[in-house]
Amino acid sequence: MTSPNHFSTAKRSDLCGSLRLPDKGRSVRLGGWVHRRRNLGGIVFIDLRDRAGMVQVSFDPRYTDASHVEAAASLGAESVVHVEGEVVERPSEMRNAEIPTGDVEVRASSLRLASPAATPPIPVARGKGEQLPSEEQRLRHRYLDLRRPEMQANLILRHRLLQATRRFLSEREFLEIETPILTKPTPEGARDYLVPSRVHRGEFYALPQSPQLYKQLLMVSGFDRYFQIARCFRDEDLRADRQPEFTQIDIEASFVDPEDIYTIAEGLIAALWLEAGRQVSTPFRRMAYAEAMEKYGTDRPDLRYGLEIFDASEAFRGSEFTITNAVLLGGGRVRGIRIPSGATLSRKQVDEIETVAKSAGAGGLLRLKKVQGALEGPASKFLSERGSEALALTDGDLCLMVAASDSVSSPALDRVRQDVARRMSLLPADALAFLWVTDFPAFERDAESGKLSFVHHPFTAPNPDDLPLLDSEPERARALAYDVVLNGTELGGGSIRIHDPRLQSRVFSLLGMDNSTAESRFAFLLEGLRSGAPPHGGIAFGFDRIAMMLAGASSLREVIAFPKTTAARALFEGAPAPVPAADLADLHIRAEPATT
Ligand code: AMO
Repeated sequence: MTSPNHFSTAKRSDLCGSLRLPDKGRSVRLGGWVHRRRNLGGIVFIDLRDRAGMVQVSFDPRYTDASHVEAAASLGAESVVHVEGEVVERPSEMRNAEIPTGDVEVRASSLRLASPAATPPIPVARGKGEQLPSEEQRLRHRYLDLRRPEMQANLILRHRLLQATRRFLSEREFLEIETPILTKPTPEGARDYLVPSRVHRGEFYALPQSPQLYKQLLMVSGFDRYFQIARCFRDEDLRADRQPEFTQIDIEASFVDPEDIYTIAEGLIAALWLEAGRQVSTPFRRMAYAEAMEKYGTDRPDLRYGLEIFDASEAFRGSEFTITNAVLLGGGRVRGIRIPSGATLSRKQVDEIETVAKSAGAGGLLRLKKVQGALEGPASKFLSERGSEALALTDGDLCLMVAASDSVSSPALDRVRQDVARRMSLLPADALAFLWVTDFPAFERDAESGKLSFVHHPFTAPNPDDLPLLDSEPERARALAYDVVLNGTELGGGSIRIHDPRLQSRVFSLLGMDNSTAESRFAFLLEGLRSGAPPHGGIAFGFDRIAMMLAGASSLREVIAFPKTTAARALFEGAPAPVPAADLADLHIRAEPATT
């Protein structure tokens, strides 16, 4: 049974991109954009495009009134036209295997111009190997950029992923409940976007960094399983995988343990990957935060390749090497990675890797390589035989090390690992290295101020085994928090929450919030928790990141219809923009003049 053609309307019968050989002989009425036009020996060929793809339309004086051929011959790119004609089979030598409609063409009998197009400032059609316009141009003329088949495919995929999410979660009794956009600040670690209130002078709403507190209160209210495809807003430094306004798949459930959340999350991920045609095997690997930091220097390790970090301190202990001695005496370590066949990298290449390590904060890289059984490199002369053996290098290995505190060596070696993996082509195509990172610390202490802050958010439950540490060494207490990581990208994160109001107040006070501040800032949460709160927990996925990975894109901007630039600007519509002083006055606000 063929599916019904919902695209058939009063003005057209079919989508251009849907025509195939079985349509041969049919009279069709199409509407679409002129992608390309070629005038060849009196015949005009047009690639007519719509959301399903494109089809070749021929205007041949033998079958078409001369006036239509003439009109077709001068059509400008991106004009919108109506075409009537017959689907015909292309002669075998004229077939185009590169497009799904390539076995047929539409022999036009009439042409009507619906809407001429001004000369497009950026091209929609691109020749093979032709570069895309700059991203700035693409974003400024987004209405044209979005016409490109690649962007259409990305947004269609995004739609399918949204529907698959809804299907998967509602089939499992999760209720989709919307929460406010004008809210009270929720601490998620970024700055808030604030919205001034006109009626309440000097007061502000915050746009939600996430629906965290609302979803917890929905559990308190007994909804038991909630989800939302939630828009979140965070004023933070932007990168390719961060937007100021982004979408989460936000999930919360009552009477759950981390295991229940893992099962739901893995099922959802497998369903989304399947929607994009990929099989995912579950359960995912798991790794404690401490192990991830020790072996990979990051809490989102890319496990598609090895290059594990090892502790090389023993090799240097007791040596005459002043650099490593100073670090070891100061409580630091020498940590490094062994790169199989890395001895073949040129000095220039290793210098480039060192630049990467330095940009991540390391003073430099110690280099050693093993060639024909002997160690080479500036540090080799300081190593005793026992020290050399402790490095456990194999012939051909290059060993790159950082002597420093872990807080310096971890980020540096993380970057080095990533750089080396790319350089040495260690990234297998299509590999999916999913990972749960568990047992995050609940708190971290700022080295300068000595103040304790939360690692995930302040509503995360400490691990019950570590509750005794809260008074003595809170930074050693683990949280019931987990992140899901794919190939080095954090896809989502969540936790079991605190449902005991006394523990919640205690955590606020550990974070330096006095009782009355906590009561006034989080009154609604604390009151809710005091009203009978079920144990609960959840997770939120970065939906744009999932769509980006499934589209094979390298930036979130490729899967968001109208994204912001890294400077948080909307180039197409021109936001943010100055506001007339009178409008500001209504909001009781006076803008300081810009100082640049
Ligand atoms: P978290 O802050 O870890 O958790 O966010 C969850 C996921 O959202 C994605 N994400 C982003 N995506 C694009 N641009 C951004 N600026 C951005 N920031 C975060 C990431 C991240 O893993 N309320 C908790 C969830 C919970 O505890 O249930 C939260 O928001 O993929």
